[in-house]
This record gives sequence, C-alpha cells and structure tokens, in this order.
Amino acid sequence: MLKGILNFTHHLLEESVEKGDTVIDATCGNGHDTLFLTKLVGENGHVFGFDIQDQAITNTKNRLALNKSNNATIIKDSHSNFIHHMPVDKLTRLGGAIFNLGYLPGSDKSVITRSESTILAVEGILSHMKQNGIVVLVVYHGHEGGETEKEQLVRYMHLLDQKLFHVLYYGFINQKNDPPFILAIQKRN
Ligand SMILES: C[S@@+](CC[C@H](N)C(=O)[O-])C[C@H]1O[C@@H](n2cnc3c(N)ncnc32)[C@H](O)[C@@H]1O
Repeated sequence: MLKGILNFTHHLLEESVEKGDTVIDATCGNGHDTLFLTKLVGENGHVFGFDIQDQAITNTKNRLALNKSNNATIIKDSHSNFIHHMPVDKLTRLGGAIFNLGYLPGSDKSVITRSESTILAVEGILSHMKQNGIVVLVVYHGHEGGETEKEQLVRYMHLLDQKLFHVLYYGFINQKNDPPFILAIQKRN
C-alpha cells in the first residue's frame, strides 16, 4: 500500500533518525510532530521545537506535559534562528528535522511560513546535520501565499548538489483541492 502523507513522513524519520539524536521540529504548531519526535529520539536524545506564535508554544508545551515528555526544548523564535538556541554538543548530534508548512490549524491563517525563512533554516540545518540525516518538509500550499512558498522551495531543492544530497518529492498528483506533499532531503555519505 502507498503510505499517506503523515505515515510516509513518520516512516522517513523513523528510517533515518537514531535514538540519542538531536532533532528539530521547525514548526511546532499544536505539537503533534514534537511529541512524535520525543519518542523517536528516546530519553537520551533531544528535540528543539520552534514556533513564532504564543498559541503554538502553549499548545506544544501542554501536549508534552500531558505525555510526560521531558526531552524537548520549546522556543518562541523563527526556525531561521535555530543556531542561536542549540548548544554545540546537541548540534553535533543533529540527525533530522521536520517542517510542517502553512498556518496553525484552528488559527486565522494570517501567520504562515514563508520561503525566505524556511530556506534559510533548511540551509543551516543541512550544513550541521549528520551524514544520513534527513530534513522532511510537509508542504501545504492551498492557502494564500502557499503557492509562492511551494514554487520557491521546489526551485531551491532542484539546485541542491546530487553528490551531497538525495532529494525526494512525494505526493498524490490526482487528488483535488491542493493536497499536501512531501519534500525530503537526505545528506549522503
Ligand atoms: C502547519 S502549522 C504546524 C503544525 C504542527 N506540525 C502540528 O503538529 O500541529 C505551521 C506553524 O508554523 C509556524 N511558523 C510560521 N513561520 C514560522 C517561523 N519562521 N519559524 C517557526 N515557526 C513558524 C506557525 O506559527 C504555525 O504554527
């Protein structure tokens, strides 16, 4: 069976991220991915979660507390500033990252991810990530501004050197209403 977008996202991370790794949730939102990542890296690993909205920070912290997760640091700042929040010992164990693009579900859709900061963050993460580490982006693009971010991201991904990275595009092209798709970048050996 072909895996759906959420399942395939988790599958990619499960295949690449190791226990004890550091990982980044670049867009915490309601904290679903953050919680998933805390379980994936285990008690010796660590998750750094970023979001620019108070509501997202609160929702994510609440979800982690409910699940008694204590291996995550949640930061209210743009993912493009990730480097300023991560100690060197954690940065050297960076095994992966996830971006869920678009707007906070249940919010007013006025705060959206933008290609400038998304690409800046991806670039920085790729330069610090371990070999075989993976960055997974779930691209929601049906909202206002989404198409621009999608086009610029896809253009950027095409330019990544194939000797250094495997770049994947995964989606269901016959679905209606702008379905989300996955872009994933794996750092090669
Ligand atoms: C689609 S939602 C994420 C959903 C989340 N993965 C979940 O499990 O609920 C996108 C989030 O990105 C956040 N965001 C937008 N620009 C950002 C930026 N520059 N840095 C970090 N987060 C950002 C928004 O505030 C929003 O909460």
